Amino acid sequence: MKPLPCSEERLERIAKRYGTPFHLYDEAGIRENVRRLQAAFAWNSGFKEYFAVKANPNPYLLEILRDEGCAADCSSPAELVLANAVGWSGEEILFSSNNTTPEEYAQAHRLGAIINVDDISHVDGLRAQNTLPDCICFRYNPGKSGIGNDIIGEPHEAKYGMTRTQILQAVRWAREAGIRRIGLHTMVVSNELSEDALAATAEMMFMLAVEVQQDSDVRVEMIDLGGGIGIPYHPSETAVSYARYGKRVQTLFERYLRPQGLGETAVWLECGRAITGPYGWLVTRAIRHKDTYKQYVGVDASMADLMRPGMYGAYHHITVAGASEPATQYYDIVGSLCENNDKFAINRRLPVIREGDILVIHDTGAHGYAMGFNYNGKLRSKELLLTAEGDVRCIRRAETLTDYFATLDYPGLP
Ligand SMILES: Cc1ncc(COP(=O)(O)O)c(C=O)c1O
Repeated sequence: MKPLPCSEERLERIAKRYGTPFHLYDEAGIRENVRRLQAAFAWNSGFKEYFAVKANPNPYLLEILRDEGCAADCSSPAELVLANAVGWSGEEILFSSNNTTPEEYAQAHRLGAIINVDDISHVDGLRAQNTLPDCICFRYNPGKSGIGNDIIGEPHEAKYGMTRTQILQAVRWAREAGIRRIGLHTMVVSNELSEDALAATAEMMFMLAVEVQQDSDVRVEMIDLGGGIGIPYHPSETAVSYARYGKRVQTLFERYLRPQGLGETAVWLECGRAITGPYGWLVTRAIRHKDTYKQYVGVDASMADLMRPGMYGAYHHITVAGASEPATQYYDIVGSLCENNDKFAINRRLPVIREGDILVIHDTGAHGYAMGFNYNGKLRSKELLLTAEGDVRCIRRAETLTDYFATLDYPGLP
């Protein structure tokens, strides 16, 4: 868990000026983090981090990542538009979709994106509609048990990717279709803190690349190990060491790929959470107390601003700005949605919280704002950036009722 990038006094001033709730991001932290990841994989000359745009689709943050040399992993038409607006084009964009329509492939093709094919049934369609990319990637689902984790589930239950047999078939098809640059992709873990599990994914993919070469004499040009590097949401957890992870992947690369003449293969990642997650904080104010069978503190943010605790029971650390007393109270920290899982924390031991106190919900920089929604007519919060120069910049205003009703043409609505 990263400390706030500013003093609590400054946070209070920011909250007064902009109004709560808001997500706050730390530019300097994000930049330093990306550089550390790149340094850990500097041994691989083709290494690229394709930032998973879905994790934080704010163009001002994407600009920072582009400036740091990241590319973009997009999963939808909107993300393609966003990536292109930020300045990514051609093979700096990886279109990693599933259940994809011909129009979506055509859009990615117009941008010159690398297409990451999720299903063998798509391949003939790509040729038929004349959207064969210069560079193609195939998404692997190993199916077997023992790989994958709680969030992603057992691979054989996951809707993503192709079987081993289908991958070999897809590679042969691509070669016959004249596509010369072929890659492999997988994503079998999510929020994974175990370096063993992350390394196991690399080993599985390197072995697959060797098998592809033996089967069809195709040299896999890049291997995308997916996203899924976890972050320590709970103070008892430890962050993945990029340096150690990079070293382990290098050792496996030397063991499996180089001896097969695959030493030029690029290794890619498409992390989202690990890149921006720890550098975002949801800042909210306590507005109510309720004392029934439990003690509740109502805050002015809700599950609409951060769905992970309600959806997955995910832990997000919470601190009370300016609190000097010990944590002696047990609270449920709740929003105002008509959903009983609209809780940021349950039975959380915290210092006494008074109305007006600022609560900081940590690690909201990825899959936070992005997963927001409008149920109950809730309006999503604003996003602020603490720039590397130390200024605060509003990079997305809060939604208004006019935004909420914008798709309705009905008298009396704003
Ligand atoms: C295909 C794919 N790539 C990358 C990511 C990013 O995952 P994370 O943010 O956990 O690194 C996801 C997450 O859903 C994904 O589905």
